[in-house]
Amino acid sequence: MDVRPITFTVDPSAPDPTETVYGLGANALDPRAVASIFEAKGRPASNPVIAHVADPADARTLAADWPHAAAVLAQRFWPGPLTLVLPKRATVPDVLTAGGPTVAVRCPAHPVARALIAAAGVPVAAPSANRSTELSPTRAEHVRKSLDGRIDMILNGGPCPGGIESTVVDVTADPVRLLRPGLVSATELVAVLGQPVAVGPAADGVAKSPGQMAKHYSPRTPVVLVSTDEVEALGRNTRHYGLIWWSPQPELSEAVGYPAGQVCRVFGLPADPERASALLYDTLHKLDLSNLELILVEMPPDTPEWAGVRDRLIRAAAT
Ligand code: TXA
Ligand code: MG
Repeated sequence: MDVRPITFTVDPSAPDPTETVYGLGANALDPRAVASIFEAKGRPASNPVIAHVADPADARTLAADWPHAAAVLAQRFWPGPLTLVLPKRATVPDVLTAGGPTVAVRCPAHPVARALIAAAGVPVAAPSANRSTELSPTRAEHVRKSLDGRIDMILNGGPCPGGIESTVVDVTADPVRLLRPGLVSATELVAVLGQPVAVGPAADGVAKSPGQMAKHYSPRTPVVLVSTDEVEALGRNTRHYGLIWWSPQPELSEAVGYPAGQVCRVFGLPADPERASALLYDTLHKLDLSNLELILVEMPPDTPEWAGVRDRLIRAAAT
């Protein structure tokens, strides 16, 4: 591994870094560099990768067109946890877009990510820095656990304050389509656009966001989603299990219980979508390392604000 000192200046006027997860970066304009990302992750070539820019204006160097919705959303949410799917320019390599006519672009808010992209001087292609289908990393040590030996370097920027991947919005569709829920909710998109937003894959059956595979973001330990009433009954038949529940407290709580000679590792996550997102993957990583037979997760409410967390939990539990 190549270890070199890098100095970053953090801009104190930058917005809150609601940053999402660690990314595995390479020059988005170099097909060989992008191909090496697919190789390191074991990612199917059919799943396109997001290009990251340091400055919102740089998105237009990748997009063949800049629809009104893109201008409105970028103005409000960039830098931040929102990805826009746009018509691609001919200069954007096909390997990045999985051969498709669109390119996904995002301007991240984290000062380290932005400084890295600015120093690179090119848009940086970056999927989440984990082996394909595994849990996304929200700490440098999660990246090391998943990709050690397969990548050149890890930049440790501390725990990610956002915690789940960006909201992906297709602005080439009419109406604009929410492809992946995240920290920017459908409610916020509608409010900013002043018009309705379609949700989920396009009705014509064409996979517009191929990364929306049923099994994704998964720990190695089986995950079972439960209602509050089911927790006790399911736990009774398992010797070692984990439990995530939603607590009225603003902080994470952690406890170990010994019901009937069993071992149960319990995390109470704050019942607030933003706080819960920031802690979700880290908690799943911890439970995954605890030698459990099962991870039980209480399902949060079915509201737009919880859509990102619910989406990740449903995919984590898919078999
Ligand atoms: O927060 C994030 O989005 C993180 C950080 C590193 O930026 N990245 C991330 O990348 O989650 P990844 O590759 O794990 O997920 C990218 C998602 C996938 O669902 C992919 O299918 C979708 O974006 N996507 C990429 N390009 C697309 C395109 N041209 N059209 C539709 N969906 C696209
Ligand atoms: Mg990913």
